Amino acid sequence: MNTSKQVNAMIGLLFLAFLAFGAYIINEPNRQATAEEAQSEMIARRGADLFVNNCRSCHGLVGEGGIAPALDSAAFLILGEDNPYGVDATAEGEARTVREFLFNTIACGRTNTVMPLWSERYGGSMSETQVNYIVDMITSERWDLVEEIGVEHDIETSTDPATVVLTPEDAGSLSATTANCGQYTGAVRQGIVSRDPFADPGEPGATQEPGEEPSDQPEAQTMVQGALVGEFYANNCASCHGGQRQGAVGPALTPQALTEPDDFYADTIANGRGTIMPAWSQLAGLTDEEVDHLVQFIKHVEP
Ligand code: HEC
Ligand code: HEC
Repeated sequence: MNTSKQVNAMIGLLFLAFLAFGAYIINEPNRQATAEEAQSEMIARRGADLFVNNCRSCHGLVGEGGIAPALDSAAFLILGEDNPYGVDATAEGEARTVREFLFNTIACGRTNTVMPLWSERYGGSMSETQVNYIVDMITSERWDLVEEIGVEHDIETSTDPATVVLTPEDAGSLSATTANCGQYTGAVRQGIVSRDPFADPGEPGATQEPGEEPSDQPEAQTMVQGALVGEFYANNCASCHGGQRQGAVGPALTPQALTEPDDFYADTIANGRGTIMPAWSQLAGLTDEEVDHLVQFIKHVEP
């Protein structure tokens, strides 16, 4: 190559570089938005991957719940400015509370339940960054990624998806978490899991009609947290004790099967037994009276 050709080539290259740089400057705001999107997509993917490998067995294939509570709940959603629901973005303080609740539960586990602790700081297997990836995935409801990665994972490891969710045999061998960060009370949990990010802040929740005092209603005696006791059972106990209370992971809860005094069962329901049977006064903030409604229901009402 002679010198003039080299110079021409150089000029050509400079010109191209100049063009590219100009395009880059013009495109800057767009590029930033795309980079942010790519970043949050990557984080959600890492969270979904961790979920697939560590959490599905108890919380369900796509967070729908199993022997452990559902995590695909709207209560855990944090909405941004331009959310697809067209509602207000989640207030900063509220978002922080939700994140902290999830982070602490995952990092520290739950005392007296089988929810394990995961943070390396307390002897678990995950860094705080990894716990945060999962929190990001849950609060941005990227269960689509969990499903996608889960399918790939099951194909790679040739796992039959039907066997992924815990079987009773596995459940029996689980043991309860004994230490956590002391961050958690039933009342805090109740406040968060009943949160509705779509509620109109101007409109207070369902108000009671005058003259509709709970004590006026005969079924008030059999209500547990605003639901009829049978309904509460179906939503909270049936997954382990069976739809007809016939027993599954947990024992049968029928009048024939329950021969101990009321106190014995009330204590089990309220405080659990350090096994996968949850402590309901702590988990859901059930009062003694509500626990008693459940005891009367399982001991005296035929399924
Ligand atoms: C061995 C079963 C098991 C595994 C595995 C498990 N969990 Fe849990 N998890 C539970 C149980 C049981 C609870 C309910 C604890 C209680 O009674 O308070 C729970 C509660 C939670 C909660 C609080 C939900 C609520 O409604 O209060 C979060 C968040 C959570 N788990 C996240 C995870 C994540 C993330 C993973 C994986 C890294 C995971 N869990 C793995 C059993 C499990
Ligand atoms: C995650 C699974 C799970 C859920 C959910 C669950 N239980 Fe249990 N439950 C068990 C297991 C397992 C046992 C046996 C515990 C043991 O002996 O260690 C048990 C034991 C009991 C017992 C004692 C039975 C006996 O014969 O000694 C009662 C009563 C009971 N559960 C009531 C309830 C009620 C009421 C609910 C819902 C509010 C509920 N359980 C939800 C797993 C569960």
